[in-house]
Amino acid sequence: MAFPTETVYGLGADATNPAAVERIFKVKGRPAGHPLIVHIASVDQLDAWAAEVPPEAGRLAQAFWPGPLTLLLQRSSLVADAVTGGRETVGLRVPAHPVARDLLETFGGGVAAPSANRFGRVSPTTAAHVVADLGDDVDQVLDGGPCSVGIESTIVDLSTGAPEVVRVGGVTADRLDEVLGAPVPIWSQGARRVAAPGTLAAHYSPDARVEVVSAGEAGPRARALLDEGRRVGLLAPGHVEGVPPEVVELGPAGSAESYARSLYELLRRADALGLDVLLAVPPPPHGLGSAVIDRLRRAAA
Ligand code: TXA
Ligand code: MG
Repeated sequence: MAFPTETVYGLGADATNPAAVERIFKVKGRPAGHPLIVHIASVDQLDAWAAEVPPEAGRLAQAFWPGPLTLLLQRSSLVADAVTGGRETVGLRVPAHPVARDLLETFGGGVAAPSANRFGRVSPTTAAHVVADLGDDVDQVLDGGPCSVGIESTIVDLSTGAPEVVRVGGVTADRLDEVLGAPVPIWSQGARRVAAPGTLAAHYSPDARVEVVSAGEAGPRARALLDEGRRVGLLAPGHVEGVPPEVVELGPAGSAESYARSLYELLRRADALGLDVLLAVPPPPHGLGSAVIDRLRRAAA
C-alpha cells in the first residue's frame, strides 16, 4: 500500500512480515540489501524497535518527531532481516502527515516503507506520481494531496556513538546542531560509514539530462544546447537574466522551501514535456537549500 508522508509518498508493508517486505523490493526493483525505514506512530514505540536509544536519539526524537527525521539505531528483534538487509541497525521515523499518522495509529505496528518509486527514479510527491510509476503493482494508494516538505527525511546515524548525518533532508543541519548543542558532521564520500542508496551518486533521475549551472551560466549554456537542436528547460529559484525565449521556464520561484516542495514534480514535468536537458540553478546553500542541492547533484550524476 502506498501512503502520503510530509516528505514523499511511501510504499509500505508490515515491518515484521518478511513476505510483505520482499514484495516491496520486487515492486520497486530495489536490490536486496538496501535497507528500508520503519515508520512508527510515536516516540513511545522507539524502545520497541531499537535495542538501544542513546540520549542524543531521545533528544532528536523529542524535538523533531513527528517530522522529516530518520534515526539509525541498533535494531531490536522485532525488525525483520529483510527490512535491514541483515544489518544490525534500523532506520526509524515518525512521519507527520495526518494520513500517515492515522494509518500507523490504527495499524499499531511498524510500517517498513521506501519512497514509492521505481529504484533510482524520482520520488513521488503526489498520489498521481505513485500511480504513474507503479501502476497495478501497488494494491492501494492513499491520497493525502501533495507532500508539504517534498524531499526525503534527514537521516542521522546514532548507531556508533558520535552522531553523523548520512542523508541531508527535511530537517536542516542548523536545527540538528541546535538540539544537540554541537555541529553534527555530514557524511562525505571519504568517511563512509553506512551504505544507503539515497546516498548513491546517481539517484532521483528523470529521463531528461539534468545539468546544475549558476545563474550566470544558464543563458549561454541554454543557447549552446538550443543550437544543437535540444529541447531545454530551466529550474531556478528566481528570475535568470539572458535566458533565450525558447527555454521552458519551469520555476520554482521563491524560497528553498518552495524549491524543495516542487522539485520532484518539476523533474517529472520536464519528462512529460519531452525536454532533453534541464538546466538547474540551485538555491542558496543553506537551510533546506542544502538538501535541494544534494538531490539536484544526484539527479545530474
Ligand atoms: O522521507 C523519507 O525518508 C521517505 C518517507 C517515505 O519516509 N522514505 C525514504 O525511503 O526516503 P528510501 O528507502 O527511499 O530511502 C531511505 C534511505 C535509503 O538510502 C536507505 O539505504 C537508508 O535510508 N537506510 C534505511 N535504513 C538504513 C540502515 N539501517 N542503515 C543504513 N541506511 C539505511
Ligand atoms: Mg527513495
